[in-house]
Amino acid sequence: MQTISFKIASKNIQGHFGSVKDFLLQFSQTSKPIVLTESKLYPFFSRFLDGYEVIQIEGGEQHKIQATADFVISELMRLNADKSCTIIGMGGGVITDLAGYVAAVYKRGVKLILVPTSLLAMVDASIGGKNGVNIGHHKNMVGTIYQPDQIVFDIELLKTLPENEWENGFAEIIKHAVIADAAMFDWLKNNSLEYFVNDTIALEALVLKNVKLKFSIVQLDEHDRGERKKLNFGHTIGHAIENLYELPHGHAVAIGMVKESILSDKIKGRDASISIQIDELLCRYGLPVTCALNNSDVWHLIQSDKKKNGGSIDLIAVDAIGSSRVERMDMDRFFRFFNETDK
Ligand SMILES: NC(=O)c1ccc[n+]([C@@H]2O[C@H](COP(=O)([O-])OP(=O)(O)OC[C@H]3O[C@@H](n4cnc5c(N)ncnc54)[C@H](O)[C@@H]3O)[C@@H](O)[C@H]2O)c1
Repeated sequence: MQTISFKIASKNIQGHFGSVKDFLLQFSQTSKPIVLTESKLYPFFSRFLDGYEVIQIEGGEQHKIQATADFVISELMRLNADKSCTIIGMGGGVITDLAGYVAAVYKRGVKLILVPTSLLAMVDASIGGKNGVNIGHHKNMVGTIYQPDQIVFDIELLKTLPENEWENGFAEIIKHAVIADAAMFDWLKNNSLEYFVNDTIALEALVLKNVKLKFSIVQLDEHDRGERKKLNFGHTIGHAIENLYELPHGHAVAIGMVKESILSDKIKGRDASISIQIDELLCRYGLPVTCALNNSDVWHLIQSDKKKNGGSIDLIAVDAIGSSRVERMDMDRFFRFFNETDK
């Protein structure tokens, strides 16, 4: 197993790349953690969890809510989990977000290990410490930034992932390429989803590249005041449409990236070459690039977005593939351009 240390503020986070079975065997000799997972996923992972206390919850975005966090907290209390306990969140981004949130608030903070089991959670949701729950249609309205102590990246866990969930993960990978890594954009352009699904070495390299890229951005700006905002590319519109139209996270982000890049093109008064390249790559990886939207409903949710501040909002402007910038934008101007985008 390869272990890489990532330092964020004063915390050293260990990223383990290798077998989760070996990791858990070793870990359970020194500590008795409590595992949080999805009941649907438990049968896939139960062989690793013999002898562990396991809290199972219903999965899906509709269960990423305060009531589920309250249930997990009551289960921790029933199990007499004290301040020295460790929570292991094993699942997709819904589980890693919920595990992070509960670990941050239970007894004002307990140890946290994340084992992402979806591609999206491996390359994005498990990294950076953001967690939270939804309030109605409003995504991640309540939450904290709380770094895990360790994250285990085991590619073998992806073997049971359905095809549409691979596509979802590629939305965030393509986002990383667009905002910060032109070489990765070309690598993706010259290959395909099938290639990465079937070539373990290429997939491992891709996951590692994305893990390092996300860590490198979060290291510069843990609290989302500058550089980290670039990771929100596609998410202002994406978050608004995700719960409104019950879209998978990656699909919503893909549509959001296309809309936001068209907006960037329009604002800059330039041709659509950048948005077309993004659109084409998303299509290559099976992602949707458009859907019928009710602009006033979407706008209503954007108005309460966390990224909005007074009368303006941060838009991520893509200057070239692999190069992006945070641009503060007047809400009225944003709305005008938003209404004009025809995708
Ligand atoms: N904290 C962050 O920085 C951050 C970043 C990006 C996304 N997110 C959040 O992550 C969530 C989306 O993550 P997601 O796409 O992983 O969603 P998810 O957790 O709902 O998982 C997607 C689906 O894949 C299934 N699944 C997961 N692992 C599997 C496996 N190994 N085998 C078979 N099926 C498996 C799940 O049961 C689920 O049906 C959203 O709530 C989003 O807001 C958080």
